[in-house]
Amino acid sequence: ERGYDLVVVANRLPVDVTVGEDGEPTWTRSPGGLVTALNPVMAQADGAWVGWSGAPDHDVEPFEVDGTELIPVTLSAEDIEKFYEGFSNDTLWPLYHDVISPPTFHRTWWEAYQRVNRRFAEAAAGQAAHGATVWVHDYQLQLVPKMLRELRPDLRIGYFHHIPWPPLELFIQLPWRKQVVEGLLGADLIGFQRGGDAANFVRVVRRLTGLTTRGQVITLAKHGKVERHVRAAAFPISIDSGAFDELARTPEVQARAKQIRTELGDPEVLLLGVDRLDYTKGIRHRIKAYGELLHDGRLSATSTTLVQVASPSRENVDAYAQLRDEVEQLVGRINGDYGQVGHAPVQYLHQSFPMEEMAALYLAADVMLVTALRDGMNLVAKEYVAARSDDRGALVLSEFTGAADELTGAILVNPHDIDGMKDAITYAVHIDPRESRKRMRRLRRRVLGHDVNAWSQEFLAVLTAVPNREGRGG
Ligand code: G6P
Repeated sequence: ERGYDLVVVANRLPVDVTVGEDGEPTWTRSPGGLVTALNPVMAQADGAWVGWSGAPDHDVEPFEVDGTELIPVTLSAEDIEKFYEGFSNDTLWPLYHDVISPPTFHRTWWEAYQRVNRRFAEAAAGQAAHGATVWVHDYQLQLVPKMLRELRPDLRIGYFHHIPWPPLELFIQLPWRKQVVEGLLGADLIGFQRGGDAANFVRVVRRLTGLTTRGQVITLAKHGKVERHVRAAAFPISIDSGAFDELARTPEVQARAKQIRTELGDPEVLLLGVDRLDYTKGIRHRIKAYGELLHDGRLSATSTTLVQVASPSRENVDAYAQLRDEVEQLVGRINGDYGQVGHAPVQYLHQSFPMEEMAALYLAADVMLVTALRDGMNLVAKEYVAARSDDRGALVLSEFTGAADELTGAILVNPHDIDGMKDAITYAVHIDPRESRKRMRRLRRRVLGHDVNAWSQEFLAVLTAVPNREGRGG
């Protein structure tokens, strides 16, 4: 029986289902950077994508979307609570993001994590052709590489970690740290966003396993005999920059960008923030700095607007529900203190929008604020740059994002330093147009010159060079 030569395994499918009261499913694009990045990669390959539909107990047969075969994995309500909301997003997510929010450790969540990872590994094993490449994605599925290798030793297995890899001192808090590392070492290639993430991982491997490492190559041995090598390396992810650039050049998007400014009452200065509503994104720090600038009169409350898009995310996890309350209180306070009839200095939108509307917002904004406290990459920063074919606009970017390594034309900030952030925002608002253009051109060279196809080709080229049991490659 033939299978697929390329199988992607990710927690989410590229489409997300909501089942209405009448039982009718509606499919929309899934949230987050992972899907943003992988969608164009799969559109070019004849492959399969194993993932979850986003709804509880949603049992559906495989189906095809844009030439990719989607293989749904079913999660029960209990799996969602313990594997997705629990272990993935209340244990691993905060632990891997500098413990900005304290991680919760529950043994029953760990059990669910193992159980669900096995289900994904089995689904992938059932789809891959002999000697195929399987590409596993992100922190929800760290045990899949090892489980899959046990089921299918003929496969070439790659893993990409979309979020930060924490320093050893934080990672070792995890009671199941050794099992997680061993799970990942089932892969032939482990990709990270930044060189620092790969270095942190290798340090963890050395401490927890006693395996030999040379640079970023880890040697696995059995009974004193070398079994195989695992490579850890940085592959900074990107977006479909060309498609975004083109979209932003269409007359519809250009017209919509103008209309947005008109609808906002033609502000002199339009600031923009676009994030999933997540405590790692530094939304409160950003709004606080903005509020102080209005208070100090360094920004005019009557002619400045901050549009903050905060798309709903992980709403059943306490830390997220709490963050929503905090952000909404802060927005309400600023609008109450500095608003006027007909003008609110913060336009807060707890919604998600289609790409066309996002492109128009990026084009309309004078200054883009990306102030994450910790972020694996941050693709919003890259989307903003790709949309600015007019070479205008300024990007204020947190040092704590993967994007900061590459986007050296941005105005870099430490989001914990509120005064520093206020200065950077003021600088961006009053930036000399010539300097602004120079910076944007530099940003665009990088974002357009290294798109998501380059990223996936680089990763797959290194992965394919690994000799597998069939003696191919190498
Ligand atoms: C980040 C993660 C992804 C995740 C996305 C959306 O980008 O790296 O793995 O899919 O957030 O989060 P969600 O929990 O809705 O899948």
